Amino acid sequence: MSSPKIYYDSDADLGLLKDKRIVFLGFGNQGSAQAQNLRDSGFSNILIANRVDHYADYARAKGFTVEHDFGKAAEQADVLFILIPDQVQPRVFNTYFAPKLKDDVCIVVASGYNVFFKLLNFKPTQDVVMVAPRMIGSSVRSLYEKGRGFPCFTSVEYEGTGNAMSLALAVSKGIGATKAGAISSSAREETAMDLFAEQALWPNIILLFKEAFEVLKEAGCSDEALCYEMWMSKEPAEIFERAAEDGFILQLKHHSSVSQYGQLNGADKLDGSAIRAHFKDILYNQVLNGKFCKEFSAMEDALEKEGLENPLQQLYAKNEASIMGQAEKRVRARLANII
Ligand code: NAI
Repeated sequence: MSSPKIYYDSDADLGLLKDKRIVFLGFGNQGSAQAQNLRDSGFSNILIANRVDHYADYARAKGFTVEHDFGKAAEQADVLFILIPDQVQPRVFNTYFAPKLKDDVCIVVASGYNVFFKLLNFKPTQDVVMVAPRMIGSSVRSLYEKGRGFPCFTSVEYEGTGNAMSLALAVSKGIGATKAGAISSSAREETAMDLFAEQALWPNIILLFKEAFEVLKEAGCSDEALCYEMWMSKEPAEIFERAAEDGFILQLKHHSSVSQYGQLNGADKLDGSAIRAHFKDILYNQVLNGKFCKEFSAMEDALEKEGLENPLQQLYAKNEASIMGQAEKRVRARLANII
């Protein structure tokens, strides 16, 4: 497999966005950051499409014009950023925007999910590009303000006008992403990695921590010592920070020799075949085949139509009742002044 292209400022022409009406649907984490960055890159022709809520007030406070009538905003857009939560995008876009958009509009998404699972109804004449920062919105803004870039995935998902890649790069540069290098990707790749991390990697990490906690507690370790040892000291956060700086394995050199040998020798002896099979099962039979997406959409529909209790609350309650959850609650209450 060849290495993906990495695009820098010199690959992009901001002039392509000149004279274009740029509409942001949403002024939340990403919307507020990207709209402000784009304005500071020299574009004043920005309109914020937002329902009546505190995000709209915030956009006005930042000096933007806000349109609550989504149809009116859609009619004007030459470039449309869709920056509202993924689960509400299909309903809002398909109902209010799709019927009113120009035939040659460039639609920009910051996540591959709705494009990969074909949940947005756009026309074949329209461009759809992905410009997906790998950063939370506040960092997208603060890094731009410091004159630095941020990691970002850029791709053309649907080519309508023949100009989609140039527009994707202009947008990437305008929001400040090509300063650090925007990596050529795809909605499939972004969705696969995102959902795999969420549904395979991190669930296993949660499970490993819970099991480790219970085994060590049974062996006589106190809740207080365990909470600090395992996460409250922030050691795992530091390890990942070092991994980003020095290398995933080479960060081990900051640990004691006993630790380095224990970790590398321990990992070498483990048989990964069961977890690999489990990971493949999640990736192919739950993520990429759309099974999760279908189930999640059905759940969202039912929650909205029938006003059911969100299962997330039950899942939080279940975790709070677990041995590790109870222990942490007690330790945090006791050590409230220290943490
Ligand atoms: P957010 O949760 O901050 O979105 C808030 C905005 O959505 C507000 O403008 C609000 O008025 C609007 N909104 C919420 N519910 C609505 C509804 N039912 N109807 C109409 N408008 C509604 O969204 P966030 O986190 O900025 O995500 C936007 C996109 O960026 C998503 O595709 C997400 O996957 C992607 N993304 C988010 C990152 C993050 O740091 N949060 C990182 C990279 C990508």
